[in-house]
Amino acid sequence: MAETSAEQIALLEARVSELPERLQAHIERARMLGRELSPLFSADPERVDIALAGHDLYRAASDVEMLGIADRRGIVLGALEIQQPLLLHGPLAAIWMADEGHVSDKEVLDAVQYHTTFAPGLGPLAATVFIADKIDPNKVERRPWLSKVVERAYIGDWKAAVRTYIKTLDGELRRQGVAPHPLAQEAYDYLGDT
Ligand SMILES: [Fe+2]
Ligand SMILES: [Fe+2]
Repeated sequence: MAETSAEQIALLEARVSELPERLQAHIERARMLGRELSPLFSADPERVDIALAGHDLYRAASDVEMLGIADRRGIVLGALEIQQPLLLHGPLAAIWMADEGHVSDKEVLDAVQYHTTFAPGLGPLAATVFIADKIDPNKVERRPWLSKVVERAYIGDWKAAVRTYIKTLDGELRRQGVAPHPLAQEAYDYLGDT
């Protein structure tokens, strides 16, 4: 039988309660931002909340742990995931939510899977999750340029907010000699065409 949203949230919160406290605090802040942004982006706040409650279930897992789970799950790893196993934390959270959290809503699972990079074809629900995660005040303090993303988000323009994030991060990564993720670039181009 399909679980209700409240039952799904209860399962997720039980799992979140096992995470390090600073991560629990980030998840709580992201959920609050998700509640604020949902009406601005015309996204369903309940589905946004489920996605944000589960998005970082593997954020504190070690590289070895994530690579091990991915291997057991038969996930084919690209060069990028082998170099940066942290990229797996969204996909692994989506798998946990589908299997253990009884979440079958594909848009919610996609929002979790792609919350690090975004991806072409995603809509307002995933954008709300993506931006709520990125504009955690602690992150804005570390990266002052995120205030540009906050500004666009509170105007209610989720496409501009996502594109501004991707473009500015792209510049930051290039200055550090790090290659931007191809999915982010594809999402940026996709949103520019829509
Ligand atoms: Fe994350
Ligand atoms: Fe997060």
